[in-house]
Amino acid sequence: MSAAADKRVAILGGTGQLGHGLALRWALAGYAVTIGSRNPDKAAQSAAQVNELAAAQRAAGCSYRDAAAAAPVVVLSVPYAAQQATADEVRDLLEGKILIDTTVPLVPPKVARVQLPAGGSAVAALQTSLGAAVKVVSAFQNVPASALGDPSQTVDCDVLVCGDDVPARETVIAMIADMGIRALHAGPVVNSAATEAMTSLLISINSRYKTHAGIRVTGLPDQ
Ligand SMILES: NC(=O)c1ccc[n+]([C@@H]2O[C@H](COP(=O)([O-])OP(=O)(O)OC[C@H]3O[C@@H](n4cnc5c(N)ncnc54)[C@H](OP(=O)(O)O)[C@@H]3O)[C@@H](O)[C@H]2O)c1
Repeated sequence: MSAAADKRVAILGGTGQLGHGLALRWALAGYAVTIGSRNPDKAAQSAAQVNELAAAQRAAGCSYRDAAAAAPVVVLSVPYAAQQATADEVRDLLEGKILIDTTVPLVPPKVARVQLPAGGSAVAALQTSLGAAVKVVSAFQNVPASALGDPSQTVDCDVLVCGDDVPARETVIAMIADMGIRALHAGPVVNSAATEAMTSLLISINSRYKTHAGIRVTGLPDQ
């Protein structure tokens, strides 16, 4: 069975703003969602919220390690400062799996200014650190958590998906399509530098225009 057809996903940091929105959208799409947290009780509370909003028992909460063991596709949705340490904690459990990394290397307080790390991209650096046994796919950097977390809203933007393993990218694109959101191949993992940088542009735009902006790619053939 392909990872997308399996319909199981684990979200490390699923208690946070973006992770909650992802958990909710996949729960609504019929996925079994495992929320991982540093605090399993907090994860269980988040899962209960998702189940209430989804009106179905689709989410469960546990530790990072139990979550990473629970699904063939694992999402990393933690602050940049915790990205590497969180991945290291579950490193052995990620072998052979797809890791969707949502990280944007924001450096507070100037989050509206592009400040990419040495080497260019936080997600590409994680792929290098984890090695080829883990298929790291970059996604969701330009999607507002507020839209994902409000089931009454249509998510009116594209998800740009970068990764070196094309079948892994295909799987992630199919999983995002299951949420009712268009996702697009955006090239190898080094291209994640562009989506990570774009987030600071969107934060600037949001601040100036008092909105939650996203990216929409035009000129594509009907899919
Ligand atoms: N928010 C957005 O709109 C958005 C959009 C696109 C991309 N992103 C990216 O997605 C990632 C998550 O963003 P977010 O806004 O959801 O973040 P958040 O709400 O601040 O944090 C997400 C989760 O990370 C966990 N965490 C692990 N280590 C941590 C540490 N050292 N300090 C604080 N929290 C820690 C916490 O879970 P536990 O306490 O349960 O362990 C927390 O609930 C970030 O890399 C962000 O750049 C966010």
